[in-house]
Amino acid sequence: MKLRLKAPATSANLGPGFDVFGLALMEPYDIVEAERISDKHVEIEVLEGYPVPTKPEENTGGYAALKMIEDFGLSEGVRLRIRKGIRPGSGLGSSAATAAAAAYAVNELFNLGLSSEELVRYAALGELVSAGAPHLDNVAPAIYGGFVMVSQEPRLRIYSMEPPPDLGVVVALPDVEKGSTRRAREVIPREVPLRSLVHNVAKASILAAGIALKNINMIREGMNDAVVEPARARAGIIPEYEGVKRLGEELDAGIAVSGAGPAVICVIEKSRRNVAAEALKKFYESRGYRVQLYITEPGPGVAVIG
Ligand code: HSE
Repeated sequence: MKLRLKAPATSANLGPGFDVFGLALMEPYDIVEAERISDKHVEIEVLEGYPVPTKPEENTGGYAALKMIEDFGLSEGVRLRIRKGIRPGSGLGSSAATAAAAAYAVNELFNLGLSSEELVRYAALGELVSAGAPHLDNVAPAIYGGFVMVSQEPRLRIYSMEPPPDLGVVVALPDVEKGSTRRAREVIPREVPLRSLVHNVAKASILAAGIALKNINMIREGMNDAVVEPARARAGIIPEYEGVKRLGEELDAGIAVSGAGPAVICVIEKSRRNVAAEALKKFYESRGYRVQLYITEPGPGVAVIG
């Protein structure tokens, strides 16, 4: 049996929801072909797209698959052939997509019967390889689809919700080197002032309620972070941060850093996506950055497509 899977890009944080909120996107995505091999090992090949490590221990998907083979005492292994459409280090959950696809594939190929939550746990092990910290706000939406909220203490809880049907997304990915997610996490303050906590709780509540109530105005109002984004911008990880936030206000759109950046996610009515895309392109290009744009919308989690 050979599976062909589509694994979505995901945008984590959405402003105030650091390590908690995540959104699966329709584009960009990876395609992963997976099949069983008689050797109890993981083989990885990148057929096209962006390069990623092919040693299983160094690849987020390879690592997740190895752990599953070990934990379930499988006598066979898996071959993963990746068409990498999500740029690594973009802030669009590239490593999470591979990890989610691998966990999903092993579960299907060996009929393990794992729940979505268990798949998230395995995919998260893969994330550890790349980020060095167990954050689930990319792998959870990559498995569940739509908008998710993750709580890890005292035990893992994942809640998923369908975003409003008229919610459009534009992703702008400026052509800069972010460096590692690991480093982007090192620059975050260990302690936050009470007023920043109050700000973020208010905004995160408004955003989550906006998803539940299918209210785009509330969602964009909620995409406002007083802690993590400003710290990363100060560390030089998010180019043109203040300017792009101002652009969000001018466009009456929600703009937030996507995950650890450098991509930004813009949330706006579907009917106004082209206007936002044009403005974002002009914004970055006029400041000397080449920029890649995705005019998209929320999408499903990893799934078999053939
Ligand atoms: N919540 C994580 C972070 C997402 O911001 O570091 C990384 O993609």
